[in-house]
Amino acid sequence: MQRRQFLKNSALAGTAFALTGNGLWAKSSDARIEILADEPIGEISPNIYGQFTEHIGGVIYDGVWVGEDSKIANQHGIRSALIEKMKEIHVPIVRWPGGCFADSYDWKDGIGPASKRPRRTNFWEVDPELARLHGKGPQVFESNQFGTNEFIRFCKLTGAEPYLAANLRSLPALDFDHWVEYCNSPAGSTTLADIRSEAGFPDPFKVRYWGVGNESWGCGGNFTPEQYASEFRRYTDWVPHYGVDLQFIGSGPNDNDIDWTHRFFEQLHSGHGYDNASFTGWSVHHYAWNLSRGKTNDWVQGKGDALNFDTLDWYEVLRESNKVEQIVHDQWSTLGQYDQQHKIKLVVDEYGPWYREGTELDPTHLFGQQITMRDALATALTLDTFNRNAEKVSMAMCAQLVNNINALFFAHEDRFSTTPNFHIFAMYASHQGAQALRTEFSAPDLQYDRDGKPARFWGLNGSASRKDNVVTLTVVNPDLSRVKETEVAIRGLSIKSASATVLMGRDMHAHNTFDQPDAVKPATLVAAVNGDLVNLNIPAASVTKLEVLLG
Ligand code: AHR
Repeated sequence: MQRRQFLKNSALAGTAFALTGNGLWAKSSDARIEILADEPIGEISPNIYGQFTEHIGGVIYDGVWVGEDSKIANQHGIRSALIEKMKEIHVPIVRWPGGCFADSYDWKDGIGPASKRPRRTNFWEVDPELARLHGKGPQVFESNQFGTNEFIRFCKLTGAEPYLAANLRSLPALDFDHWVEYCNSPAGSTTLADIRSEAGFPDPFKVRYWGVGNESWGCGGNFTPEQYASEFRRYTDWVPHYGVDLQFIGSGPNDNDIDWTHRFFEQLHSGHGYDNASFTGWSVHHYAWNLSRGKTNDWVQGKGDALNFDTLDWYEVLRESNKVEQIVHDQWSTLGQYDQQHKIKLVVDEYGPWYREGTELDPTHLFGQQITMRDALATALTLDTFNRNAEKVSMAMCAQLVNNINALFFAHEDRFSTTPNFHIFAMYASHQGAQALRTEFSAPDLQYDRDGKPARFWGLNGSASRKDNVVTLTVVNPDLSRVKETEVAIRGLSIKSASATVLMGRDMHAHNTFDQPDAVKPATLVAAVNGDLVNLNIPAASVTKLEVLLG
């Protein structure tokens, strides 16, 4: 490999790469990555590696909850295989019970003896796709066997914190207070604490995170931002704390709707001020669903297929997913106009590619879809975006954990498997709680024909972080055909050793099934340490994790 030596602090110093001082950059390498160890961005909140579980399709019933009397291995009715795999990737937080379901849910239905709990119509009963269930099953008529106690137990078993989404559309504000009371009031203090104790939970749950409605611009009430701001004010004032540092998450925009954010905050602060230290999160949802390349905005027509796709669709999903970076930047600067100290952070509590129906593993799995390498790359680039914006994004939840949209797991009856997304979360887990470091990626854009017009997309991107004497770098190569010969340097630090893992498939459609659960799984990648550089050959259409032990 031909090499060119830059002298320390030479006259050429000035570009990101010449500045390394220790750098021996190869002229011939395709790509260079420089991790700027002395430019920390902020601590990566573990909570951006969160998950989302809604009472929708096969998520709770089949995915999480199998019932205490089930032959399927379970702990208190919760699927054991799921618990074990969630622990492996250190899921820090889980959002529940919705989604849209949350704004039709009466939490009181899900407490007390399971046999006495009422059956109710599930929010998703209205979805035309559920007609295929002919009015049968807990996906249509909610059995309430899985309620607050079961969810909290699920969190305790997996080591995750609970994040509850409260109903703002169809329950009064007092019910919100009472749900907080049920969860957090001390043993023996209130009637609701007694009911909790009778169910076997004397100790308060100490739930900190509370969503105040969900998608209040849509299924959560169809409010205008001004109406929602008034409701939000009513719901969040004087909520009992019981010594818990409550965190309220407001229902933010659909995608990058800046108007929603502006008008909400204008209204919230109009007349008299709103000063509530618990308001610390602004929710954002971003689904990569429209693959029509600008031809339509129709929710049904615009969607693509999870399995049957071409190279153009591959790049389109990555482009759509990549929009999250712009959303984070725009929403952050909008928030800054009302909250100059930036006490309110972004909470991207739903994200992922969303395809048309047809690849679900069971008819009960509403919005269930196959997960291919394409989705693994979309998920990885989204997590990298959060890492790169560690000071702005405090929490994020992949939608959803199991049997739904961008799932990490598939479960049906006694069968269970991980998807490529699970492996992404496993590879990225070491970023949790680490210090994000600004990183320069230099690689030629990839170019392709997009409906007769030349299109570009970045050639390599990712994120880096440091915890103690280990630096973790994660990199996405979206290029379907080109391996990227890559050099990595860490400015100002010396490298003792390095190891790398890569997730790639046999082709872009590669995915796991119950019969072939390991069709996509991580493999070791050669990471050659050459002085102060690490050389990697990053495969096409892959996600790589490099771990560097500092000298
Ligand atoms: O994740 C599925 C649904 O998508 C959620 O219920 C809703 O919040 C969003 O529109």
